[in-house]
Amino acid sequence: MATLAMSSGSTSARIISTGAARGSRVVDNDEICTMIDSNDEWIRQRTGITQRHWVAEGETAVTLAADACRQAVERAGMTLDQIDTLILATVSNSQQMPSMAARVAQELGCPSPAVFDISAACAGFCHGVALADSLIRTGTSTHVLVVGTEVLSPYLDMADRGTAFIFSDGAGAVVIGPSEVPAIGPTIWGSDPSHSEVITLDDWESLVDGQERPYLRMEGTKVFRWATTFVAERTRETLEAAGLAPEELDVFIPHQANNRITDSTLRQLKLPEGIVVARDIAQMGNSSAASIPLALDAVLQSGEARSGQKALLMGFGAGLAYAGQVVVLP
Ligand SMILES: CC(C)(COP(=O)(O)OP(=O)(O)OC[C@H]1O[C@@H](n2cnc3c(N)ncnc32)[C@H](O)[C@@H]1OP(=O)(O)O)[C@@H](O)C(=O)NCCC(=O)NCCS
Repeated sequence: MATLAMSSGSTSARIISTGAARGSRVVDNDEICTMIDSNDEWIRQRTGITQRHWVAEGETAVTLAADACRQAVERAGMTLDQIDTLILATVSNSQQMPSMAARVAQELGCPSPAVFDISAACAGFCHGVALADSLIRTGTSTHVLVVGTEVLSPYLDMADRGTAFIFSDGAGAVVIGPSEVPAIGPTIWGSDPSHSEVITLDDWESLVDGQERPYLRMEGTKVFRWATTFVAERTRETLEAAGLAPEELDVFIPHQANNRITDSTLRQLKLPEGIVVARDIAQMGNSSAASIPLALDAVLQSGEARSGQKALLMGFGAGLAYAGQVVVLP
């Protein structure tokens, strides 16, 4: 009896390039405090946020994603017809069909990529990197665009001062392709279903009278505790799975949720003093699935980090879900 042929691909995969797009409206803490009962000092001290980007007229999660993807493909020295797979991570998708990835492919004019969305909130981008790595190593795909994109500002309840100042709008993309040397380490991922109600977007079918759209809701203190205990341990495991000691890591790019969470993880993992730590949250707030690729792009474009260095990515958020991996920077 005939056996099935199996696909086989490259021994390794790597991030080839990055791209970024931020909502063009900059909203600083003073402006946000005209909308909520808070103040600049409290926001800076508790989170590290000084401003955030929101969309302006005409900008959407699709247009931001397309801009970030276009830049990543250009920087890779490639053309859009070489992209065979487009994976998009988002939670700000108000249209279930077609996928947002399909709409971005249309906006870009990609000929015929495989397109699908991931819903894993702030961990979505790292889930996408894990999938791209596996698809390339099994030979299913060759060049994959992974993009995290969010427009969260319309989902903010301006009466909730525990969330309204945190979230933002932007998109970050990477092109991932074959590599002759290992450049994406093992992914450590999972979830804590016992905390599935801790960060939510309201169900469209259960909006209360007068509410026009879902609101983002978060029990911040519970998320903070989970991120500084459970996720910190998973971050350590991610480093160990890549076969690295803390002093062999060059760059730390955690989900941009709160600088105090980042500082706590740095201390627990005893990461070296001189390590580059992404602090894009100061300018950007928390852009969920876009936060890690935007922070990755920012440390490369600013020259803080350079090609060939090893960076630990760790995404965590609603689910509660997490995913992380060590990558070699493009
Ligand atoms: C949201 C977050 C910044 C709130 O900080 P916190 O220290 O937990 O704040 P709390 O909710 O415990 O509130 C502490 C105090 O500040 C007050 N407060 C809350 N929000 C405030 C605001 N925007 N401005 C001023 N004061 C505020 C509270 O009323 C409370 O006052 P009290 O002590 O007099 O009762 C923090 O919990 C956080 O970052 N959590 C993690 C979020 C995260 O990681 N998300 C990632 C997944 S998307």
